[in-house]
Amino acid sequence: MADKDSRAGSRYTTPAILDYVNRTHAPHDAALAQAFEVPEGIPAIQVGPSDGRMLYLLMRLINATKVVEVGTLVGYSAIHIARGLAPTGRLWSIEFEPRHAEIAHANLAAAGLADRVSVLVGAGREILPTLAQEAPFDAVFIDADKVSYDFYGAWALENLRPGGLVIGDNAYLFGELTEDSDRGRAMRSFHEQVAAACDSVCVPTPDGLVVGIKR
Ligand SMILES: C[S@@+](CC[C@H](N)C(=O)[O-])C[C@H]1O[C@@H](n2cnc3c(N)ncnc32)[C@H](O)[C@@H]1O
Repeated sequence: MADKDSRAGSRYTTPAILDYVNRTHAPHDAALAQAFEVPEGIPAIQVGPSDGRMLYLLMRLINATKVVEVGTLVGYSAIHIARGLAPTGRLWSIEFEPRHAEIAHANLAAAGLADRVSVLVGAGREILPTLAQEAPFDAVFIDADKVSYDFYGAWALENLRPGGLVIGDNAYLFGELTEDSDRGRAMRSFHEQVAAACDSVCVPTPDGLVVGIKR
């Protein structure tokens, strides 16, 4: 059920409720805990434990073998995604900041995933075209510079198999989705491209998560 307040956007979550559901459904083992604790000087902007767990479950549901992530940070979501892959599966994760990529590499190795995840250092706009030779992909997860979501969405829709998933975090754009700005326009274009090419939803996570199944 939903009531008037929750339909209008209010949430019943509190820090205590979030802590309880994360511990119950998405507990951290040592590898996830290590990737969730970012070192000094690195922003703590990874997805939350429940969002990470959802990525893991989505990968399992589609038996994903080839996945691309844009925006690795230090590998927290990459660990969730890689753990959800089919046994022969592979994840290519793109990260602009060399220091983030270096720490991600260490975290993925500590998780025993170094042979299944390639962290590619550079800008998504430059690296994605080099990955097209590996297409079609089963899923593309977008969690990097918001002003490029229109580009990333178009690339994903071109390089996914029918039935593959395009997933985009921060789909509410920190509350600025409807604003007249470059990143507002890019994010709205992303929503509209996904809606036109997929059966899709914007899941009301804290900052919105677009999930589309390519037709
Ligand atoms: C929100 S964080 C990613 C969090 C990660 N997906 C997780 O949940 O663990 C965004 C990352 O994208 C990277 N980034 C920013 N602009 C980028 C670009 N143009 N290409 C690739 N990565 C970029 C940032 O350096 C940052 O590490």
